[in-house]
Amino acid sequence: MTVQHKATLSFSDGTPSIEFPIYHGTVGPDVIDIRKLYAQTGKFTLDPGFMSTAACESKITYIDGDKGELLYRGYPIEQIAEHCDYLQTCYLLLNGELPDEAQRLDFDQRVTRHTMVHEQMARFLQGFRRDAHPMAVLVGMVGALSAFYHDSLDINNPEHRFVSAIRLIAKMPTLVAMAYKYSNGQPFMYPLNHLSYAANFMRMMFATPCEEYKPNDVLVRALDRILILHADHEQNASTSTVRLAGSSGANPFACIAAGIATLWGPAHGGANEACLVMLNDIQRMGGVEKIGEFIDQVKDKDSGVKLMGFGHRVYKNYDPRAKLMRETCHEVLGELGLHDDPLFALAMKLERIALEDEYFVKRKLYPNVDFYSGIVQKALGIPTEMFTCIFALARTVGWISQWNEMIADPDQKIGRPRQLFTGHVRRDVKPIPKASGAKK
Ligand code: ACO
Repeated sequence: MTVQHKATLSFSDGTPSIEFPIYHGTVGPDVIDIRKLYAQTGKFTLDPGFMSTAACESKITYIDGDKGELLYRGYPIEQIAEHCDYLQTCYLLLNGELPDEAQRLDFDQRVTRHTMVHEQMARFLQGFRRDAHPMAVLVGMVGALSAFYHDSLDINNPEHRFVSAIRLIAKMPTLVAMAYKYSNGQPFMYPLNHLSYAANFMRMMFATPCEEYKPNDVLVRALDRILILHADHEQNASTSTVRLAGSSGANPFACIAAGIATLWGPAHGGANEACLVMLNDIQRMGGVEKIGEFIDQVKDKDSGVKLMGFGHRVYKNYDPRAKLMRETCHEVLGELGLHDDPLFALAMKLERIALEDEYFVKRKLYPNVDFYSGIVQKALGIPTEMFTCIFALARTVGWISQWNEMIADPDQKIGRPRQLFTGHVRRDVKPIPKASGAKK
């Protein structure tokens, strides 16, 4: 962080003008350091939704929405998706560099050894209703980890932070699979350590004690890619929540539970589920024949209907993850012979029509990662209500890397936004006269 220039803020109310340093990052917009604004002028800034506010310094993930670029620790997502698996990506996000072969084996071994959860977690799970949403279960289970693993909760000890990070990455697949098995009444499957991270997860989801599940390489690679593409995405709502929760000194399991709760919202992690719901709705309306009618509804602003899985707040050219997910989507549909399945055929036709339609072309509305990841997950046999849990599983490494970076930052302070207060000024309580016969 280097000071390149200064910004001067002048006031029309007689407050003397003030200078702020401007910092230059390695890439991306410069930032004006306004930390002394209140102390020197008695004024706050107002920026709901953090539209122009950098809340932290970070070295982990960089997004250039105009270029359609996503970098993890400097490496383009396309190269990571091609050359790395999810655990190598985790190592990179956590440690800043890709592992060499010895480091990779050591990391894989550590994660593998922590995949089981305390036996009592299964009894804890019994407290939920069978029809509970799996995200509700996940928030509770991850929060509860802090009650089971209190030997790694000293946040000022880097070794404890590392062990907690490993535990979270290792146990999330087990917890997500447990939440799924609980919802359909099947027995939990213990992790199998000789399988890869993604293959182990798929087995815990789909095997039963009566029938072994043989992971298919194409499908395992597809799931691994979903995990890589969702591993981190800079200072989004759930990551910022994890940082804010962590800024008070809360333990990492509690912070990640807060992140999962935030991810649950439909404006954040719920879009791939919404995309599948939309495809099913069109299917019910009459399928491929009704696409034109549906697109007309989308274009009609009064209808309130959106083409789910299209458009992005940051990526205005294209979502680089969508391109990779599209490739995977076709591989999976090909492997499973599903190209002609009515729902998938509908999705592919919808994609083609929208990409050629002037409404979408003019507004630069392209399919985002959720359009394809929903289709892939559906093809893998993952039920729609589990989609956001898979996102949470993938994002856990991003959350814990960002949390760790924050705790290690000497400038870190408890997050405490200020407000523009527009409510009542001080006033006095007028006692309410009691009705006769009322309790004293
Ligand atoms: N369907 C139809 N029209 C759309 C869509 C869409 N999916 N997305 C944007 N538009 C239209 C807007 O109505 C607007 O039209 P106008 O210029 O005539 O008023 C124009 O395109 C520009 O949209 P923006 O306002 O720039 O889009 P914004 O940044 O506000 O929204 C968002 C981005 C929320 C993602 C939006 O595109 C959307 O709702 N998409 C569908 C939901 C979705 O797929 N979300 C997942 C995002 S990816 C992720 O979270 C991992």
